Amino acid sequence: MRLPAVEVRRLYFRYDKEYVLEDVTATIWDQEYIAIIGPNGGGKSTFIRLLLGLVQPTKGEILLYNKPPLQARHLVGYLPQNVNFNLEIPLLAREVILQGRLGPKKFRFDATDYKLLAQVAKELEIDTLLDKKIANLSGGERQRVLLARALITKPKLLILDEPTAAVDINAQKRIYAILKTLKMTKIVISHDINILLEGVDRVFYLNRRLFIHENIPLKLKNNGGHFCEMELFEELKRRCDG
Ligand SMILES: Nc1ncnc2c1ncn2[C@@H]1O[C@H](COP(=O)(O)OP(=O)(O)OP(=O)(O)O)[C@@H](O)[C@H]1O
Ligand SMILES: [Mg+2]
Repeated sequence: MRLPAVEVRRLYFRYDKEYVLEDVTATIWDQEYIAIIGPNGGGKSTFIRLLLGLVQPTKGEILLYNKPPLQARHLVGYLPQNVNFNLEIPLLAREVILQGRLGPKKFRFDATDYKLLAQVAKELEIDTLLDKKIANLSGGERQRVLLARALITKPKLLILDEPTAAVDINAQKRIYAILKTLKMTKIVISHDINILLEGVDRVFYLNRRLFIHENIPLKLKNNGGHFCEMELFEELKRRCDG
């Protein structure tokens, strides 16, 4: 039987006057791979902040594995949008990854943490980066290190907010290839249309309201052509209206 990983019911949210999210209802199933797309300001990062319990719904309900977001935090691995490192702080990649293991009741590392670090470094092929300063890594390398930080907790649900922004096409491909192999529930926000052709189960188009598209990747593939993002949005809008 399919278990729900994320249940969102009649969700409304506003920071101030205007609603950023309106009447959003969705179920994401355990082990599903969801891409969230939509225009700038459409509410994608806000939706993720709600799932993480960083902000509270104005109205509506959110459950992660049957728990309110704050009680499910330990089940979630998260890579935020635009992580800025203070270049003055000489953190090594290994220290950044290990930070993922820290929590409200955990302040120091033990043997398990170091074992998990070695595992995830091997999985993401970043062994050779571990002793480099995070500030000195290339954009693509840094994103893999941040992905490792999200994965070191062995999350049931992985949430990535634009993991390939400002990363070249080869590094993008590499990150999406890694994502494909990860066995867990995955939610990835992206402006890269590549992701839609790479094994996602469903596409969520978010622009204040949510439109769910089943099987978009295959249909686009059959179209044969290259889709730029604006063309894709137009196509999705047409399907919603029609
Ligand atoms: N802390 C905040 N306070 C007030 N308004 C905010 C705040 N954060 C975001 N907003 C507004 O909420 C709307 C949705 O923003 P959000 O960051 O969720 O969009 P997004 O879909 O992630 O966009 P992008 O593709 O540019 O990352 C925008 O109009 C934004 O200006
Ligand atoms: Mg965003």
